[in-house]
Amino acid sequence: MEAATLFPARAIRLRRDATIRAGQGGPVIALADASLQLPGLPSRICALLESLACRDVPEADVQQDLAADGMPGLLRWQALVTKLDSAGLIERSVLTPQGPVARLRQAAVGRGPGSAVRAPAQVKLSRFTAIRAAGGKLVAERPGGHAHVELETAVTGVLAALAGWTSAGDGVAGLSPQLSRAVIDLFAGAGLLAPGSPDDDTEYTDAALAQWSQADLWLHATSRGTRLTSGYGGSYPLAGRFPPLPAVRPALPGPRVELPRPDLEVTAKADPPLTEVLETRRSIRAHDPAAPITLGQLGELLYRSARIRRVFPCADGQEAADRPYPAGGAAHELEIYPLITRCEGAPPGLWHYAAADHALEHVADPGPATAALVMGARAASIMAADPQVVLIVTARFGRVMWKYNAIGYSLVLKHVGVLYQTIYLVAAAMGLAVCGLGGGDAADFAAASGLAYHAEGSVGELVIGTPASESASESGGNR
Ligand SMILES: Cc1cc2nc3c(=O)[nH]c(=O)nc-3n(C[C@H](O)[C@H](O)[C@H](O)COP(=O)(O)O)c2cc1C
Repeated sequence: MEAATLFPARAIRLRRDATIRAGQGGPVIALADASLQLPGLPSRICALLESLACRDVPEADVQQDLAADGMPGLLRWQALVTKLDSAGLIERSVLTPQGPVARLRQAAVGRGPGSAVRAPAQVKLSRFTAIRAAGGKLVAERPGGHAHVELETAVTGVLAALAGWTSAGDGVAGLSPQLSRAVIDLFAGAGLLAPGSPDDDTEYTDAALAQWSQADLWLHATSRGTRLTSGYGGSYPLAGRFPPLPAVRPALPGPRVELPRPDLEVTAKADPPLTEVLETRRSIRAHDPAAPITLGQLGELLYRSARIRRVFPCADGQEAADRPYPAGGAAHELEIYPLITRCEGAPPGLWHYAAADHALEHVADPGPATAALVMGARAASIMAADPQVVLIVTARFGRVMWKYNAIGYSLVLKHVGVLYQTIYLVAAAMGLAVCGLGGGDAADFAAASGLAYHAEGSVGELVIGTPASESASESGGNR
């Protein structure tokens, strides 16, 4: 163990996807879709640069190499490395006699903060830093960070040691002070350490940081990081491995209820004007027990807000759909499951809205699992009685995740918002009570529906019914 900890070397190299070729004025660093022209360089520096393209070069060896050129040579080299580092082109590693044990890789090419940071005296991992296993190593990264650090088993104990404030100069996890310090400096270079100090733990004392959970910040950073997240946007991560899902959800076996179709010419004439609908729309949480919603009203609401009007092929091989509300890539992954407690003309239970056929498909009879869903919706909307109908919105995740990588889930949530507003407006125009809910239980829905949690899960819900009365209707709560 001593041998492994006696000689840690801090090394650098060019990132793996970069190559060097001779250009007209000097060396050119080339990447898949970018290149950096360097000025003419002395032959010794050129040779060093070339070695950076193929191996980890200990920084101490470089200094020895350049000693013959004196201070000017060293300064020139340092300026060059700083330039490459802040362009995201440098990888850093910690070498032991057994090989590299830790490696910092930059996430993006382009202007960045660089990675040559030294850790402060007292260190702790940021509470936003996430650890995952990949390729036999542990990878530590921070949401929105410009770099990540890969760790071999020999030094993973450093992560655990930094769960609380620790002195960076001490050897931690049974490693020598030099080795653990070199690894901790990589954490600092990748921005994985908490800002502040033991006396002022900024991630808890600064309101802007304190308000974020790790999971929320991760989703925000990955879905809003065009430069940092590889495979951003429509990058088809599953194409070639799995077939795309059809636009129309395959029919469920079991009983079906055909829904009446409204005559849109008639409804268009009868509807209040858009401005009136927008200005009078409210979230209404009290339903009329004397006159429950009818199958005709439920059918009209679903038809006008969520039916599939058309399915058409896309050049990428995935079918697209056309519905009254918009969806990114016309993916239309959302499904609606009316959970009926009281509806004139339809038996209670969990149903699926077959949006292309405009029919209800039976999913489950009322039971403990559906009761849990009703209770959850009732509690979320603080209703005095069970809602007449809960519209549970699910996503067939594969419809978006087959095509979209980093933004897949955030896109689903955007679609939920778009559908909510469409249902709100149609319900308001029809004089129905509607209230969107901010939370629900996907595990409860999986239990009630029997659908696979990872394939199709609940992502939103609204309670709908007939409004209790003018006075019972709320004019805007704040739940
Ligand atoms: C995405 C979303 C989530 C909501 N979550 C809830 C909820 O969980 N419970 C509830 O009673 N109301 C919920 N509401 C309704 C809001 O409380 C309501 O829109 C807000 O108080 C303003 O009232 P208004 O809709 O009448 O304008 C939600 C609304 C939206 C759009």
